[in-house]
Amino acid sequence: MAHMKQTNTKITIAIDGHSSTGKSTIAKDLAKRLGYVYVDSGAMYRAVTLYALQNQWIGPDFFDTEVLKNRLDDIAIRFVKASDTGLVETFLNGLNVESQIRSLHVSNYVSRVAALPEVREHLVKIQKKIGLEKGVVMDGRDIGTVVFPDAELKLFLTASASTRAKRRFDELEAKGEAVTFEAILENVLARDHLDTHRAVSPLVKAADAVEIDNSALTREKQAEKVYQLAVQALERSSKSRHSK
Ligand code: CDP
Repeated sequence: MAHMKQTNTKITIAIDGHSSTGKSTIAKDLAKRLGYVYVDSGAMYRAVTLYALQNQWIGPDFFDTEVLKNRLDDIAIRFVKASDTGLVETFLNGLNVESQIRSLHVSNYVSRVAALPEVREHLVKIQKKIGLEKGVVMDGRDIGTVVFPDAELKLFLTASASTRAKRRFDELEAKGEAVTFEAILENVLARDHLDTHRAVSPLVKAADAVEIDNSALTREKQAEKVYQLAVQALERSSKSRHSK
């Protein structure tokens, strides 16, 4: 820590991977330890999806992509730190939607919304702007490949589908949402498929990303591992800056 405070170097950290691989847990832990800003890009796709659902532009057998594309500028997304918990919560047009966007209902539509090139272009522009100052940890599907291709540290997380579905099941059950493990597993597999097969910015591991399978890693072990990777990336970055 002491070493890092002496250098004013700040880096960008990109974390990608399939759904429920614990990207946001890693990203939050890392951002806290480094004093960086954490940005959950998935929350942005989820907020746009919620807005489309609320306006009935998308449903089980319809999706009015034209109207959504034309109304993207009406969607204001903000992240606000809750004063009691210190956790960052997502606001959609001034309303706290943190809990709503995590529901299985939104999860069941988000990958169709996220496959729209105009939605991606709109959100990527906002994400790039947030990253201009560096000192950012962002998680998602295309962060190391599209949003921050020059990130100094890229992580690619994996875990088995059943491990991931079990994690998400525990999370939603704890929040009191009536869900079954089977419905969640189905959602996880469906999103994996859509996210890796879409035409624009599909989920792929960047060539220079470090792959971490965290099926058997505790939260503490994984936090320590990625923190060490961040320290090394910071050292590399400050060295290359000094040698220029
Ligand atoms: O937390 P979880 O893994 O369930 O997903 P998320 O990170 O909240 O992302 C929800 C969905 O948004 C993903 O399944 C993708 O379809 C989409 N997404 C994306 O396309 N690009 C990103 N950078 C982040 C999310």
